[in-house]
Amino acid sequence: MAKQFDVLVIGGGPGGYVAAIRAAQLGFSTACAESNPYADPKGEPRLGGTCLNVGCIPSKALLHTSHLFEEAGHSFEEQGISVGTPKIDVTKMIARKSKVVDQLTSGIKGLFKKNKVTFLAGHGSFVAKTDAGWQVKVGEEIVEAKQVIVATGSSARHLPGIPVDNKLICDNIGALDINAVPKRLGLIGSGVIGLEMGSVWNRLGSEVTILEAMDSFLGAADQDVAKEALKLFTKQGLDIKLSVKVGKVTAGKKSVTVEYETKDGAMTAEFDRLIVSVGRVPNTGGLNAEAVGLKIDARGFIEVDDHCKTSLPGVWAVGDVVRGPMLAHKAMEEGVMVAELMAGQAGHCNFDTVPWVIYTSPEIAWVGKTEQQLKADGVEYRVGKIPFAANGRALGAGNPSGFVKMLADAKTDRILGVHIIGANASELIGEAVVTMEFAGASEDLARICHAHPTLSEVVHEAALAVDKRPLHF
Ligand code: FAD
Ligand code: NAI
Repeated sequence: MAKQFDVLVIGGGPGGYVAAIRAAQLGFSTACAESNPYADPKGEPRLGGTCLNVGCIPSKALLHTSHLFEEAGHSFEEQGISVGTPKIDVTKMIARKSKVVDQLTSGIKGLFKKNKVTFLAGHGSFVAKTDAGWQVKVGEEIVEAKQVIVATGSSARHLPGIPVDNKLICDNIGALDINAVPKRLGLIGSGVIGLEMGSVWNRLGSEVTILEAMDSFLGAADQDVAKEALKLFTKQGLDIKLSVKVGKVTAGKKSVTVEYETKDGAMTAEFDRLIVSVGRVPNTGGLNAEAVGLKIDARGFIEVDDHCKTSLPGVWAVGDVVRGPMLAHKAMEEGVMVAELMAGQAGHCNFDTVPWVIYTSPEIAWVGKTEQQLKADGVEYRVGKIPFAANGRALGAGNPSGFVKMLADAKTDRILGVHIIGANASELIGEAVVTMEFAGASEDLARICHAHPTLSEVVHEAALAVDKRPLHF
């Protein structure tokens, strides 16, 4: 007889594993299927998805190591610390990154045990609808579940004529395992991965060139932040070329030749490594979606409503495989929402307060509307903008770059967007998210006591600046 569950989750990434844990906590008998072994030495499927294995966590581990290297080489001396010229052991850096990944992926196995989630190692695909729910093939066995959550995530988009081998030409997978500092590193795409991975190798000594198709930089960010970021990253040594049309790419034995066009004409560049970071595509192949009538939209995403319900009864979909930002925390929020809705609770996901973070140096983080969006929507707003250079803690730590910009409704004072470029922006944005989640006004933040000396005082001052009464600027 087929294994029976109340809930089967297909995909063990942040959307899937979190949905499975929450469903089990709510009393459902729950299983989660995952097929990708990633770097598992025994070739057994590993939990954690893109995020833990080849995304958020390994990239942040490399960003951390390269940041320390950069500090040791460039910032220690002005503080009176001499350590000589730092050297990087790339093999050790990569091994440390892999250890962090191993620890976290096996930690999810432990969380499954603790919460009584059954882990099914194998590829999941729909077989048929039954009276009680759904039959799904997982590996070689048939599993039956009353409800199914599809959380199959996304994969790197590749470009025609650019053969990714994850050695010379890499997507995110190979980019996280480069085993020596490339003298010349090329990246196609100046989005989040382009900037984070470009920063890692730039700090470690590569000459980094980023080829971007668009004529604007970081189009989704507030343009004040994007302008500041382009200035700072260029100063750090990233050669960011905009309005580029990439042409022929030829892989040699040890280098890659890229022909491209810019406004200044045709160019050719040779790189020791090339990273292709031009966005990601949802994983729906192999789900047998068509046969069971699961609707996929024109861009390849599973169609869902605001509650992540698909076109099929009892089938839900969350995370990168559905519309919205491809972010781990958005996937997790949706996973929790779906489990709670299944249990008859008021599952909730506020897509207007999903924060974005780019883990460069300085970090970039935002939540809500950008100034250009408010202008386009004809909304009247007030702006409060305070530089980190006016903050004692930022100066003491040698981090004076960047600013906090707060946008509030001109009539109601409700905060509509907060945009930060500066040290610890990833942590500072949390306060803005909480305030916006509770529909707070800039006056609310202005009247909250902030510890001194902290970087959070810049957020406080930006709130005061909305009302033109900053105290330290
Ligand atoms: P995934 O994490 O992609 O997981 C889906 C899982 O489903 C995969 O393991 C896949 O093998 C499995 N699967 C697919 N099909 C099947 C099937 N038919 N049967 C069984 N299993 C299947 N986001 C952030 O919020 N912060 C960051 O700092 C960040 N950094 C990133 C850095 C990089 C380099 C990359 C590539 C991404 C980063 N992201 C980051 C994005 C983040 O990784 C994704 O948004 C997140 O992993 C999406 O979660 P998910 O569960 O929807 O999908
Ligand atoms: P992205 O969408 O962030 O950026 C892709 C860039 O490539 C864009 O600027 C685009 O204009 C450009 N591009 C597209 N086609 C091109 C071409 N043919 N030639 C040159 N440039 C081209 O995608 P990226 O960086 O691949 O990351 C994928 C996703 O992963 C992100 O959108 C994000 O959702 C997630 N991610 C999140 C991170 C975070 O939260 N810190 C870190 C890394 C990834």
